[in-house]
Amino acid sequence: MTLAQAVVAGAEPAELERLDVPSTYRAAYIRKDEVGGFAESDEDRDVRRTLHVGQVPMPELAPDEVLIAVMASAINFNTVWSAMFEPIPTFAFLERLGRTDPRHDLPTHVLGSDASGVVVRTGAAVRHWRVGDRVVTSPAYIDGEDPIAQHDGMLAADLRAWGFETNFGGLADFAVVKSTQLLAKPAHLSWEEAACNMLCAATAYRMLVGERGARMKQGDVVLLWGATGGLGAYGTQLVRNGGGIPVGVVSSAEKAELLRAMGCAHVIDRTQFDDLSDEKAWRRLGAEVRRQVGEDPAIVFEHTGRDTFGASVYVARRGGAVVTCGSSSGYAHEYDNRHLWMKLKRIIGSHGANYQECHEVNRLISLGMIHPTLSAVYPLEETGQAARDVQLNRHVGKVGVLALAPAEDLGIEDHALRERVGEDRLRLFRR
Ligand SMILES: NC(=O)c1ccc[n+]([C@@H]2O[C@H](COP(=O)([O-])OP(=O)(O)OC[C@H]3O[C@@H](n4cnc5c(N)ncnc54)[C@H](OP(=O)(O)O)[C@@H]3O)[C@@H](O)[C@H]2O)c1
Repeated sequence: MTLAQAVVAGAEPAELERLDVPSTYRAAYIRKDEVGGFAESDEDRDVRRTLHVGQVPMPELAPDEVLIAVMASAINFNTVWSAMFEPIPTFAFLERLGRTDPRHDLPTHVLGSDASGVVVRTGAAVRHWRVGDRVVTSPAYIDGEDPIAQHDGMLAADLRAWGFETNFGGLADFAVVKSTQLLAKPAHLSWEEAACNMLCAATAYRMLVGERGARMKQGDVVLLWGATGGLGAYGTQLVRNGGGIPVGVVSSAEKAELLRAMGCAHVIDRTQFDDLSDEKAWRRLGAEVRRQVGEDPAIVFEHTGRDTFGASVYVARRGGAVVTCGSSSGYAHEYDNRHLWMKLKRIIGSHGANYQECHEVNRLISLGMIHPTLSAVYPLEETGQAARDVQLNRHVGKVGVLALAPAEDLGIEDHALRERVGEDRLRLFRR
């Protein structure tokens, strides 16, 4: 029996420790020799062309690392960026990391910043985790020896997004993480439901709630772009959960319906605005928010970038905040600074989440207070198509990927909590 087969069969920790770690493993990866393969004129940049699935070499484990047998993973937008080689090829990150840790600088980059699975090996310095533990991963790969990491790991100079700025990511049968990326798997979720949350849920949590985020209060009106997307669907839940009033922006009637089914009463279809970079559209958007909730947003939840940023700065209320963690439509933004300074607004940059914030959001998920937003599941072999759906914005919530898990709906341990939470909530995005 192989190590992977033993994990799938639910073998005891002693058995997992006895079996050899394979010298190669199946993974979804991009290739260094394909960088530059998209023509300048190719606006489509189909990620199915550059995302491959095959065997890659198994790295040695460092003392502070853990080897996970990955049951499931999920697509994040960073997988799409990596496979488009945009805005820069991620091999540049691997080369830089390779100066201190040569294992990462390879001709293949195994992608993926989310995973659920089982610990199969621990490095000599790992204290809190054991072989056999069922885990999910935080995406923040932080140098714990940087003093500021004791204050906020996201401020550490050497911070990296695992599976984007490091190799050996989660879209694979095995993955290498630092032990400080591990969290206990929520027991009422299947492997694929557990795998899809952490990157987006924790990023949204830090943006809205975290000490360096917008510090949302009860009753705050929060405008969320892409409110049924990866980040937005967790943002919407966190706003509701924290007593805020979400106003969700989406781009179709189906997504509007899904948003209402999530309990978001205020919905705006952005297709009604021809050009959101035009101030006339900002005014119409602001008027629509006021019409629906009677006031301007205290917080605007931004990740959409150039197309929306001017509108976001405009619609935030006097003294309000635009909190941003991304720029899907372009990262060179323009906005009218008069609307910012005259009304004493703030722009807050946010990125990922520190270990404690990940722990806090994982607790909310484990308690059944925040739910997975999984809408579709692909086998690892079809990672290219899974990422293509996200690239073309054909998805809602999260797109999952099964690695070692032989089928969906496996790995649930706490059936009583699952029943209390309800299948209708847990499977809301799967219709
Ligand atoms: N810094 C970080 O830590 C971090 C973490 C996670 C994600 N991100 C970044 O955040 C962005 C979103 O990630 P995601 O996982 O939420 O992606 P996603 O699942 O694709 O969702 C994005 C949503 O944004 C909306 N959208 C797309 N283009 C838009 C446009 N031009 N104008 C207005 N809305 C638009 C879409 O909703 P509608 O079409 O329904 O409006 C879509 O559902 C990406 O750029 C990603 O790299 C950053």
